[in-house]
Amino acid sequence: MSPNKSSCPSVVLVVIILSCQSVYSQLQVGFYSRSCSLAEFIVEDEVRKGFIRDTGVAAGLVRMHFHDCFVRGCDASVLIDSTASNTAERDAPPNNPSLRGFEVIDSAKARLEALCQGVVSCADILAFAARDSIEMTGGLGYDVPAGRRDGRISLASEANTNLPGPTLNVNQLTQFFANKGFTQEEMVTLSGGHTIGRSHCTSFSSRLYNFNATLNQDPSLDPIYAAQLKLQCPQGNTNPNLVVQMNPSSPTITDTGYYIDILAKRGLFESDQTLLSNAATANQVNQNARNPILWRSKFAAAMVKMGQLGVLTGSAGEIRGNCRVIN
Ligand code: HEM
Ligand SMILES: *[C@@H]1O[C@H](CO)[C@@H](O)[C@H](O)[C@H]1NC(C)=O
Repeated sequence: MSPNKSSCPSVVLVVIILSCQSVYSQLQVGFYSRSCSLAEFIVEDEVRKGFIRDTGVAAGLVRMHFHDCFVRGCDASVLIDSTASNTAERDAPPNNPSLRGFEVIDSAKARLEALCQGVVSCADILAFAARDSIEMTGGLGYDVPAGRRDGRISLASEANTNLPGPTLNVNQLTQFFANKGFTQEEMVTLSGGHTIGRSHCTSFSSRLYNFNATLNQDPSLDPIYAAQLKLQCPQGNTNPNLVVQMNPSSPTITDTGYYIDILAKRGLFESDQTLLSNAATANQVNQNARNPILWRSKFAAAMVKMGQLGVLTGSAGEIRGNCRVIN
């Protein structure tokens, strides 16, 4: 049920057409079927190659799509390199050094430029790659409406203000997602993205060592899990590359293990565990944990919706030749 242009009545009233276009994205499934029919196949091939080298790129690409869409819409602004005069999104603390998988996008783009120059946008490549990553890790595949165009602006400051941080509570998370047009239930559904991947110790070490003025350790964290995390992330270790797996019960599979871990007080971030602190979101966590089939399809639908945030279409933006630099 992806909202697209065909949902609009074909009435010739400009007013109606305009209002439809502001509600429904103009993206289309199979957008490249005539202009570059191998586009989705080539992206999938590059994601698969990257995944075989390092299965972690799947998590990296799902997160990269999220971080692209929440900042200036899904316009591949997250892929642009910083320049002497501009610090780009990818160098903002929520993205650097943690975001990964850029090389997969670059190799897909290089092949697509060789095959159909100037046709396939970096923003679409990223949207396809995120879908493929979900599928390769056992999640439900979905059709990706495409036709996004690439933006020409990327500002680190916007990544800092638009991306939620790991210490947010349930009300703050709800607000962050509401700002992007998502319900609280969709926020809980999308948080299930943390069913795969890793985190740097720095994203949660305050829960282990300096939680607040009265407690060193976050009491909402299972003490056995906390002890394991302390071994992996020793206090005072300044190595910025130390990482742990998220969703310890099934870290490489897109399943509902994330919700099962939360119920066991094993959500890695405060922003994960906080979902139990509110009756409505706790109910969602319970339902998702118990109904993996339902969550899979809710997650796919929420990813499609996320992929439509603030997209540039028609003649807006550009088709970048190199995803790292504006034309
Ligand atoms: C709800 C608010 C969210 C917060 C506060 C949050 C925060 C974080 C943080 C701090 C990390 C660890 C980064 C690191 O230190 O390496 C992370 C990783 C990750 N996030 Fe989120 N995130 C949120 C929502 C999402 C959503 C909506 C998705 C996708 C649908 C997502 C997908 C991921 C993935 C896949 C990883 C693992 C990345 C990797 O292994 O490279 N997150 N997130
Ligand atoms: C520390 O956290 C605990 C548990 O969340 C809470 O009960 C306590 O009031 C907090 N202390 C301070 C000083 O904020």
